[in-house]
Amino acid sequence: MRVLILGGTRFIGPPVVRCLVAQGHSVTVFHRGLSTTQLPLGVESVFGDRRELDRFRPIFKAIAPDVVLDMNAMCEQDALDATRVLSGIAGRFIAVSSVDVYQAYGVLLGLEESPPEPVPLVEDSCLRTHLYPRRTPDTKPEDFAYGYDKIPMEGVVLTQPDLPGTVIRLPMVYGSGDFRHRFYPFLKRVDGGRAGIVLPESIAKWVGCWGYVENVALAIALTVMDERAAGRVYHIADAEPINELERLKRLAAVVGWSGRFIVVPDALLPDWSPPINFAQHWTVDSTRIRQELGYTEAMNMQESLKRTVAWQRANPPSNLELATSDFLLDESLEDLWLST
Ligand SMILES: NC(=O)c1ccc[n+]([C@@H]2O[C@H](COP(=O)([O-])OP(=O)(O)OC[C@H]3O[C@@H](n4cnc5c(N)ncnc54)[C@H](OP(=O)(O)O)[C@@H]3O)[C@@H](O)[C@H]2O)c1
Repeated sequence: MRVLILGGTRFIGPPVVRCLVAQGHSVTVFHRGLSTTQLPLGVESVFGDRRELDRFRPIFKAIAPDVVLDMNAMCEQDALDATRVLSGIAGRFIAVSSVDVYQAYGVLLGLEESPPEPVPLVEDSCLRTHLYPRRTPDTKPEDFAYGYDKIPMEGVVLTQPDLPGTVIRLPMVYGSGDFRHRFYPFLKRVDGGRAGIVLPESIAKWVGCWGYVENVALAIALTVMDERAAGRVYHIADAEPINELERLKRLAAVVGWSGRFIVVPDALLPDWSPPINFAQHWTVDSTRIRQELGYTEAMNMQESLKRTVAWQRANPPSNLELATSDFLLDESLEDLWLST
């Protein structure tokens, strides 16, 4: 199978490429050349900016991809451009989306004034009515956050008359190469010798959806390789939903941290206000991709956490703002509790 990947060279892309190459598929990646990840031998690169995609139509036509996998469609325009350029050239089109399309995410961020949505979310759960969730009054039209929304992007992908579309909605992804450094705030505390971690009760009980990058990549590769994915929307997430306290305990076990977790009722933290609405859980049911495409995790949670920790320790972020997290208290507030 000939596969053209738009993006594919930063975090989740490289393990997808490796899965496809290992299965004998011929892969071309299209990107600007700013990311420098090593890809397997035989993978072709086409360098360019997707904002000028029309210029590359002759090259894409020569490649004649059976499947296009768009790893970097962030807004409606991205999908309009890609489907316009690739219609009549490609056999199928797959877009990588996010579980932030759901109403539950709007409730979680406080953008939607409705009671918590039922979870786990299924692929047909209500979508957000509040569009452009990252836009703030200060965002300028040229900013990424202004146009970012996967809902209209998905709408374009799923309604092409001549290009069967698939959408795959991802959870919070962790693993080697995670440029968001999702585990760093916890590891920084542990490696800094902190004796305890204080968690507001609402956070301790909150359940989100997570996926290890190699597992997520395998699921994406399955949608590429299996024609039954045409016209379908899939979730992918770790099979076992766990709350934040349990997740941190498992991380603590992996790193051998023997400190204490102290769960404090929110009411005893007058100086803290929840950054998001933790009454809204954010779990997804990934049964569909398991039943229809035979997906199952390649790596169990313990090994996934172990590998992520090893990578994170070897690759601390240069931007120290990443040491803070919505899921942990500010360290100075935590110090007050630990000293009492
Ligand atoms: N990470 C998560 O937790 C998470 C959660 C939910 C959804 N997702 C979705 O997962 C997808 C994959 O994310 P990822 O960062 O792992 O993707 P990736 O495909 O590994 O990296 C992004 C790719 O896009 C390319 N790119 C960026 N701007 C470009 C442009 N203007 N023209 C051409 N190429 C461009 C980058 O290469 P160059 O810089 O070299 O151009 C890179 O290859 C994204 O759609 C993301 O929204 C991620």
